[in-house]
Amino acid sequence: MYLITGGRGAVATHLTTLLHRDGLPVRVGSARPEDLTPPAGVGTVRLDLTDPTTFPGALDGVTTVFLYAAPDHASDFAAEAHRAGVTHVVLLSSSSVLGPDAADDPLAKSHLDVEQALLASPLATTILRPGSFASNAGAWAWPVKAGQPVSLPYPHAHNDAIHERDVAEAAHAAATDPRHRGGRFTLTGPASVTFAEQIEQLAAVIGRPIPVRHASREEWKQEMADHIPAAYADTLLDWWESHDGKPVPLTTAVEHLTGHPARPFTTWATDHATEFTAS
Ligand SMILES: NC(=O)c1ccc[n+]([C@@H]2O[C@H](COP(=O)([O-])OP(=O)(O)OC[C@H]3O[C@@H](n4cnc5c(N)ncnc54)[C@H](OP(=O)(O)O)[C@@H]3O)[C@@H](O)[C@H]2O)c1
Repeated sequence: MYLITGGRGAVATHLTTLLHRDGLPVRVGSARPEDLTPPAGVGTVRLDLTDPTTFPGALDGVTTVFLYAAPDHASDFAAEAHRAGVTHVVLLSSSSVLGPDAADDPLAKSHLDVEQALLASPLATTILRPGSFASNAGAWAWPVKAGQPVSLPYPHAHNDAIHERDVAEAAHAAATDPRHRGGRFTLTGPASVTFAEQIEQLAAVIGRPIPVRHASREEWKQEMADHIPAAYADTLLDWWESHDGKPVPLTTAVEHLTGHPARPFTTWATDHATEFTAS
């Protein structure tokens, strides 16, 4: 039995569909299982990665887990998974763990702590370390729909914009093909793109211009205060500053795992165009 944690997540949702299509037994865990809409025949369970009392029921009969990185009870989860008979965990980590100051960077550390908890356990652990999700562009949906400019503190900062379907397909390969078991994979999109280029590509897809406002760091933090905690906002701003005008390194791990090149940002924009146009 495969257990998919964080069931409402975008990667989890695609991965569930892929495993179900293979005819494999899948259970989806979520903090809010009542909000899940899994494929017919797929069971659901309440699994809150911040509440260890939910771990035993979710892990009963499970051999393989797809795990989101929730650091607070990662060791408890690994211990309970081992007790339940789990042999393999595929972790959705982050390439931020590879940075020189990962232990001091709150975003990187939250992933690093989970990697370390799993690696200290007897579980075979396969680690996926994606760079920047293309879906981060979803933060622009509200201003684009409202006809407002998109505020960008570093319009020329680069990122590798990976499509959530590529992450899910990489996770599917990692979970089902024993050749990948125990590997560490840095996943990137196919190109290093700037935010300004992404906005242009998105504008071409939705067929209307998207104005950009060059915001200061403080203005952007104020705008995002309800959505991003201040410590994470500073981390993001620092990361963008360090990649301002500087292309990010790319890997071919998506192609290695899935057999096809990573999807370009324009594909993500096309797949999600209605989120930027529907009222
Ligand atoms: N964004 C990036 O650039 C980036 C880069 C590297 C790594 N990552 C990793 O990838 C993760 C995000 O993956 P993702 O895009 O698949 O996840 P997502 O769609 O952002 O959802 C993340 C989790 O939030 C929970 N959640 C709570 N409320 C939700 C709601 N209304 N709708 C959907 N989910 C909700 C879900 O778990 P429950 O169903 O259990 O509540 C879900 O698994 C990050 O947390 C990070 O660890 C992200």
